[in-house]
Amino acid sequence: MKGTPDITIQEVGPRDGLQIEAAWVETTEKVRLIDGLSAAGFSRIEASSFVSPKAVPALRDAAEVFSRIKRRDGTIYVALVPNQRGAQAAIAAKADELNFVMSASETHNRANMGMRHPMSLAALAEIIGPAREAGVLVNATVATAFGCPFEGAQSAEKVTRIVQRYLALGVDGVTLADTTGMANPRQVGQLVTEVLKLVSAQKLTLHFHNTRGLGLLNVTAAFEVGARRFDAALGGLGGCPFAPGATGNVCTEDLVNLCEETGLRTGLDLDALIRLSRQLPALIGHDVTGQIAKAGRPGDLHRLPETLQRSP
Ligand code: COA
Ligand code: ZN
Repeated sequence: MKGTPDITIQEVGPRDGLQIEAAWVETTEKVRLIDGLSAAGFSRIEASSFVSPKAVPALRDAAEVFSRIKRRDGTIYVALVPNQRGAQAAIAAKADELNFVMSASETHNRANMGMRHPMSLAALAEIIGPAREAGVLVNATVATAFGCPFEGAQSAEKVTRIVQRYLALGVDGVTLADTTGMANPRQVGQLVTEVLKLVSAQKLTLHFHNTRGLGLLNVTAAFEVGARRFDAALGGLGGCPFAPGATGNVCTEDLVNLCEETGLRTGLDLDALIRLSRQLPALIGHDVTGQIAKAGRPGDLHRLPETLQRSP
């Protein structure tokens, strides 16, 4: 746990995870979850989103969540925003960072945000000034960067052009999101290599979903070409309500276990994460996909079978 982390994991479960849940999670429970995540050591937590309550009813209590969480010193509490109205509300709620989202695929952007690219980019341009004045950081996400469930493949040129537009507008960070888990490790290595020519590793986040079982492989592929910041969700929760077939993010505790087993420092308390993850089924009313919370850590050994205990 000591020393500078080798990899930064941003917890997005309270936002990406809870946004798709059918059952309403009480504000008090959301706050308890986020406080537990803060205590586990995250330097970045995406706590909620300031979007239309009709679009994402599960997060309609974003302002209250932000007002009630215990802020841990040094932790950046992020709010997803689609437009200027969301940005104003997030700044008023004292979010430390706004995460603006536009999809590489215009079709998905229209399904998710009701906007074509020029309108989304105009919204981002309007958000940056007020955020700066308020001392709030702005990250911009390219959703569907590795493929769109409606349009299919998205070219690397299209994605890098959007990244360049974001940078020209003055964002503090960029995220490439694989919204419906269409990425593969080879593609990830190539695209991340290209984008790291434009953005430093400290400012680039990779957001993978495990929809097709390649989440952790994609993290590894991105890490190998120099990426150091990754989104993940406790229990492997997550999914975009406006993308058919969307399922969970890379699972936080599974990723932390991978890091620990391979000697990468995360700064996170894995035992605390496992304890938190085991509370999720009761919170959301169903099982979750994360594996380490079920299997235990590799070092959690089992009692000898009775027969062996008796023989010398
Ligand atoms: N926060 C809260 N309400 C908002 C809002 C915001 N940031 N922006 C707009 N609204 C309200 C409008 O006032 C309007 O309310 P009304 O129907 O009571 O008049 C309603 O939301 C719809 O807004 P409108 O401007 O007509 O556009 P739209 O219906 O095309 O919706 C978005 C656009 C961006 C607000 C909506 O698509 C959205 O919230 N998308 C987010 C989706 C999401 O979170 N996806 C997962 C994360 S990537
Ligand atoms: Zn996502």
